[in-house]
Amino acid sequence: MANFAAMEQTQEYDAKLVTLLEALWGDGYLSPGGDAETAMVLQGLDLSGARVLDIGSGTGGCAFFIADRYRPASIVGVDVEAGVVHKANADAASRGLADAVQFVAVQPGPLPFDDGSFDLVFSKDSIVHIDDKHSLAAEIFRVLSPGGVFACSDWMKGDDEPKSAALLAYEALEGLGFGLASPDRYFAALRAAGFEQITFVDRFRWLADKTRAELAELDGPLRPRLEAELGSEFLDHEIEVWRALCVVTAGRELGAGHFRAVKP
Ligand SMILES: C[S@@+](CC[C@H](N)C(=O)[O-])C[C@H]1O[C@@H](n2cnc3c(N)ncnc32)[C@H](O)[C@@H]1O
Repeated sequence: MANFAAMEQTQEYDAKLVTLLEALWGDGYLSPGGDAETAMVLQGLDLSGARVLDIGSGTGGCAFFIADRYRPASIVGVDVEAGVVHKANADAASRGLADAVQFVAVQPGPLPFDDGSFDLVFSKDSIVHIDDKHSLAAEIFRVLSPGGVFACSDWMKGDDEPKSAALLAYEALEGLGFGLASPDRYFAALRAAGFEQITFVDRFRWLADKTRAELAELDGPLRPRLEAELGSEFLDHEIEVWRALCVVTAGRELGAGHFRAVKP
């Protein structure tokens, strides 16, 4: 199981969930798609000399990949959960990346950085946990330098209609704090903050296909190992979570997308 020794208490992404997610999505990843999806979010950007912030860095997979592949000047990951921050810093050391990447535990709310501290703000599937998209967009705008870029992937709702019973059932089973918003709400928040050149890539279909394949893995080849490590009660619950997730991704009520925006 993921080693969270010497950590402070985590809230939602505890050691059992991290073990399951990394088994499914790869070492360091608490979101689907791994290096390929991270590279797609960053496609066409020149990160040489860039100061990079990763919001919701989890156990560090995206930041490790960015440090290795793009060699920016610096990369700082922030996360509200001390357990994942502890694991990410330990893994950075064992990967020989401790000088290139640092992970910091933060409180939810304003980012603890001066204006204009970063050239790229990156995030992968973490903003979904933050309800107030407008305040967050304003904070990202503030910490970016002029000409700086915001590039993220996130899970989002397909539209602004009330949530269906299937989505409410998925959220209740999942038990993670979700602040799902439609792509229109992201656009509005980014525009209100002052961003320009805002673009969106629809990954709803990709996520639906992916979650279906993951359910087959969880209830198939991954089952013996995860059952032994995490117990059948936990695993059976997570399989129920994935069944519920497949329903809402298949119906396009929940999906993923990539946003890109520039601070003028
Ligand atoms: C789905 S995981 C994604 C982690 C990582 N970006 C990845 O792709 O593997 C979401 C992460 O966002 C973090 N998170 C939740 N609310 C946050 C907030 N207000 N500020 C920063 N991180 C937050 C969680 O603790 C968790 O580590």
